Amino acid sequence: MKVIKMNDNTRFKIKEVKAREILDCRGNPTIEVDVITEDNVLGRADAPSGRSRGRYEAFELRDGNARYAGRGVLKALKNIKEIIAPALRGRDVRNQREIDAVMIELDGTENKSRLGANAIVATSLAVAKAAANALSLPLYRYIGGPNAHMLPVPMLILITGGKLAATDLDFQEFSAMPIGAKSFSEAIRIGTEVYFKLGELLAKKYSKYALNVGDEGSYAPPGMKDPRDAFEIILKAIEELGYEEMFVLAMDAAASHLYDEKKGKYHLMGKELTREELLEVYEDLVKTFPLKSIEDPFHEDDFKGFAEITKTLNVQIVGDDLFATNIKRLMKGIEIGAANALLLKVNQVGTLTEALDAASLALKHGYSVIVSERSGQTEDNWLADLAVAVNAGQLKNGAPCRSERTAQFNQLLRIEEELGKSAKYAGRSYRQPIC
Ligand code: PGA
Ligand code: ZN
Repeated sequence: MKVIKMNDNTRFKIKEVKAREILDCRGNPTIEVDVITEDNVLGRADAPSGRSRGRYEAFELRDGNARYAGRGVLKALKNIKEIIAPALRGRDVRNQREIDAVMIELDGTENKSRLGANAIVATSLAVAKAAANALSLPLYRYIGGPNAHMLPVPMLILITGGKLAATDLDFQEFSAMPIGAKSFSEAIRIGTEVYFKLGELLAKKYSKYALNVGDEGSYAPPGMKDPRDAFEIILKAIEELGYEEMFVLAMDAAASHLYDEKKGKYHLMGKELTREELLEVYEDLVKTFPLKSIEDPFHEDDFKGFAEITKTLNVQIVGDDLFATNIKRLMKGIEIGAANALLLKVNQVGTLTEALDAASLALKHGYSVIVSERSGQTEDNWLADLAVAVNAGQLKNGAPCRSERTAQFNQLLRIEEELGKSAKYAGRSYRQPIC
């Protein structure tokens, strides 16, 4: 038997925390953190960044000067170097909760605006990666433990509008979910085939310019205005391939960005709609199409509206800007039955611990969890591991193209191979994965 000496723990201690400015998929600077242990084990993680951001998200610190059009992150880097690194040195990388709590306390603000949530989130994730590497465990296994085995259904964003593409579509994302596949690899294959087929159909109907893509790699067809046109052509692509039994549809309305606070109305296709009228639009879409998931149907303060639509429509209602991966907001939603699913974005809240707490709270109350990208990603692939770690059952990660997206899908293909027979694809039980 190996006798573990007290000082064996020394190798888990943080020797150094280094940070640098790198670029995300939009060319915007973001933060990459290296956490290095006494044993010289490295944990490296990047902070993602949103564009269609919610009001209640943790604060992303940017320089606001001439460099990179104000988007530099040197202030955040300085905070890591001068404040976070000295406080983390000597701490055990396996103590994620303690380390995240230290950073939260050092920051001291409600929304992490002193140190910057981008500085904190990259450090938090780099700590987790360093711990996984020091223990020679894959990240999903380290975070999720022995039961992490569920491969998520990818919510494949096929057409984009709103803030994430230069189109006339007001709603932000039109997606397909390959729930009928037997495995994650089959889901990616048939999803990608649909993406190709949709490209052909769009080019024919909307000109070759329809093949230009938005921030999440999805098509951005010029002249398409009506959400029904988006769903119709996606369905056509699915049907032409004979996959109608394999897919359901999903959307992100990102309605906070359609809402005129002064008038209390939503802009949609050149009209001004009340909440009730917008609800009718959703009802109609759900009746017409196999649409099974609607994200942010109303603006981020309308908990009541979310509760009403959750009661009225028998589909997944997802809170993104509504919850901002924030426990307090999620609790408020759970109390009144607002939404029935949480979009989990680690950088919305700022630490891995808080994100994991939000995921457990959601699952405990029968809410589904969709682990999600940001429209600004890097090639870092911790997101894929996180989806398996929490057995979420769903992952929103954009289209099956562009390296910042395929970095996640490819990592999931590797995890599926590594898990072998233990891997389970969430498939039709995506809302409450059956283990
Ligand atoms: P974001 O958009 O990453 O730009 O916030 C994605 C979303 O709204 O879900
Ligand atoms: Zn959203």
